[in-house]
Amino acid sequence: MSFHTTQQAPARLNRSELAVPGSQPQLFEKAAQSDADVIFLDLEDAVAPDDKIQARANIISALNDIDWTSKTMSLRINGLDTHYMYRDLVEVLEQAGDRLDLIMIPKVGTAADVYAIDMLVTQIENAVGLTKKIGFELIIETALGMQNVNEIAAASGRNESLHFGVADYAASTRARTTIIGGVNQDYAVLTDAGEPGGPRHTHWGDMWHHALSKMMIAARANGLRPVDGPFGDFSDPAGYEAAAKRAAALGYEGKWAIHPSQIGLANKVMSPASDEVDRARRILTAMQEAATAGKGAVSLDGRLIDYASIRQAQVLVEKARQIKAA
Ligand code: GLV
Ligand code: MG
Repeated sequence: MSFHTTQQAPARLNRSELAVPGSQPQLFEKAAQSDADVIFLDLEDAVAPDDKIQARANIISALNDIDWTSKTMSLRINGLDTHYMYRDLVEVLEQAGDRLDLIMIPKVGTAADVYAIDMLVTQIENAVGLTKKIGFELIIETALGMQNVNEIAAASGRNESLHFGVADYAASTRARTTIIGGVNQDYAVLTDAGEPGGPRHTHWGDMWHHALSKMMIAARANGLRPVDGPFGDFSDPAGYEAAAKRAAALGYEGKWAIHPSQIGLANKVMSPASDEVDRARRILTAMQEAATAGKGAVSLDGRLIDYASIRQAQVLVEKARQIKAA
């Protein structure tokens, strides 16, 4: 291990993160009853400019009046390049800040963007006397944000998670896609024939792999949760599940749901399977038994267990504990 200790963000379940437009208050109660781990009430791209002010008022009432049970509540503010952003923070934090756990900052481009919001949030928290420190969720969804992701991830002690915003990322990088979070079948390699007339095969690649991987590393190196963003076609559960599984395989902790039907899929994919947890528990028991017996080497089912496997087992068992406690 490095001598540098990575401070971990507060432990929160973030398997599913439900997006709820602030301009659609008829969706709020259903969202509160859902199984989503985190809900973000949106003031940004799901809300038309003419509806921004009403959406803010809707969110303030909803945070104060609806029983959101034990859900983690987040507010997606407008971007730093708009004139809405400062009032989003001032009005919602002043009037409903004590029910807010997180602020989601869209289109973060530089570490200074995070610094600016941190300054404003700190002032409001102090002025209002909010005792619970509000955390940040940062959406990485522009080429600039991806270029600066390492500095962004380290920019504030409030940072809790990085989110891959594939829709805006595609717009920013001019990637060719048709469905939000979907893949383009042109992103493929055609093998050489080898010999004249020989067979050629198409191998599809994952056009989001580099971005997902780069953001995940920046998140983990800074103790933050990596969370995968939207999958637009909510009539395609298989496509959603495949995207979620791909992110989970890389180490992502959660995925957005832009429709309630995606919540259960995210929760399922982002939870460790029960046989994995059982095996992890057996690894930890074997480790304890070996320690008690004064043995340096730990083995299970005739195989040597190394310390990396023990650390993985600890992560899985801790995740299972969080899920049970939720
Ligand atoms: C989310 O905001 C996205 O652009 O994908
Ligand atoms: Mg976006």
